[in-house]
Amino acid sequence: MTLGTEPLTDPFALAQALSGAHLINGRFASAASGQTFDVVNPATGAVIGQAAEGNAEDVDRAVEAAALAQADWKRMPARQRGKLVAACGARLAEHVDELGRLIALETGKALRTESRVEASVLADMFVFFGGLGSELKGESVPFNPDMMTVTMREPVGVVGVIIPWNVPLLLMAMKIAPALVAGNAVVVKSAEEAPLTVLRVCQIMNEILPPGVFNILSGFGPACGGPLVSHPKVAKVSFTGSVETGRIVARAAADRLIPATLELGGKSPMIIMGDADLDRAVDGAVTGMRFTRQGQSCTASSRIYVHDSVHDAFVEKLRARVDAMVMGDPLDEATDIGTIISPQQLEKVTGFIEAGRAAGATAIACSAVPGDPALAKGLFLQPVIFTDIAADAPPAKEEIFGPVVCVFRFRDYEEVIEAANDSEYGLAATIWTRDLRTAMDATRRLEAGFVQVNQNLVVQPNLSYGGVKSSGLGKEASLESMLEHFTHKKTIIFNMT
Ligand code: NAI
Ligand code: MG
Repeated sequence: MTLGTEPLTDPFALAQALSGAHLINGRFASAASGQTFDVVNPATGAVIGQAAEGNAEDVDRAVEAAALAQADWKRMPARQRGKLVAACGARLAEHVDELGRLIALETGKALRTESRVEASVLADMFVFFGGLGSELKGESVPFNPDMMTVTMREPVGVVGVIIPWNVPLLLMAMKIAPALVAGNAVVVKSAEEAPLTVLRVCQIMNEILPPGVFNILSGFGPACGGPLVSHPKVAKVSFTGSVETGRIVARAAADRLIPATLELGGKSPMIIMGDADLDRAVDGAVTGMRFTRQGQSCTASSRIYVHDSVHDAFVEKLRARVDAMVMGDPLDEATDIGTIISPQQLEKVTGFIEAGRAAGATAIACSAVPGDPALAKGLFLQPVIFTDIAADAPPAKEEIFGPVVCVFRFRDYEEVIEAANDSEYGLAATIWTRDLRTAMDATRRLEAGFVQVNQNLVVQPNLSYGGVKSSGLGKEASLESMLEHFTHKKTIIFNMT
């Protein structure tokens, strides 16, 4: 491979140039088996490149390289590690447009509304964590006056990272930036649907980091992710994905007695009280539901509870807003909404739409799929707003991971808090009201890891992010996530008598 690191504007050429390789110990490397699999543009169905198909042998090569590199990396002063990670952020910032185009091509997420934004947050995450090297502090403990007792933060070693396809850049950055600054080496297993852009990020960062500190493998879940969790030299796992796979990863980690951070699904409620600023709430619903990401978000505000007095007005405003969004070629700057990631995911989402209709709900389809013949094979799907839907209908209860939102009517505050909490998930929640007392009460009572009033911000550097109940274990994106999940505390006693 003769790929340089200057920004490239043509994502098709970049996809080709990145094809068929892992990145291990600072170098592109083919799969041990020699096998590859296709990477597909979901907007056209065309194959845009290949990914190396990793197996246990590749995992072993990458983990051994990481373990070797980590021995030196952990000895580097923490601030110096931080400076290198921040320098990666600065370098990646020069590649925002390039990375945005490639991730749009791989995942079908619109460049202007999603992909370029994600690339920019990726860079920011490295800059943010890069500044936290000197926060890896210990404590002095008042144990015995004749002894000096201190704690030190030490890296855990090699961290295995498994990421999904929906926001691969951001989710990877949230894990590897704190892991690296804390003195760990990382081996990432990318998602089979989106292996190329993360590989480019790894290549760019390997121009700055010592070889072996950040390695990336592509491959399928059981064949490549499985051996990564089970490798004897992996000391910690950080996973984002489905609840089902999260359980498999947690079981494998438990067998080895290593910790696992899990960021899993959600079915996040949004409560709109009768006194809310309705236009702001509609904006919040569009952002919260991630309509520009085809709803493919674990945080999606997919259960919207609206007070009876404003329900019909809200539904009409939401319909009009989503209807006005432009669905089209993800690489076109005019496009708001791109495509679903894969035929399997499309089938899953349409299954939920059918189940909602079968349960007697009203389905309002919005926006229009593009008429361009070049996009005829694209995985475009009209967003659906369900109203009058039973609380136990499948689209109302289960994570859909598609552009399908359920709007419920409520009259009583106590009733809506109970309904909002009646879910196996607990990732995020929002309440929209002008009444401070109601807002305060709801923030205390909503069972979720991330609760907002009158807004629906996405993940931000330095704000702890993660769920309760089946939504996961552990927090990410903050200083506390670095300290709690990527270091262990060593207690040291000096006896001075
Ligand atoms: P998944 O959870 O199976 O995949 C996520 C990652 O885990 C991928 O890198 C995959 O290769 C890896 N993986 C799969 N099986 C594994 C195993 N046995 N051992 C180790 N690693 C393994 O999610 P998938 O199949 O992409 O999507 C299924 C559903 O999960 C979606 O329809 C959606 O509802 C949900 N999902 C939730 C996400 C979230 O952010 N919480 C992200 C992606 C999907
Ligand atoms: Mg899966």
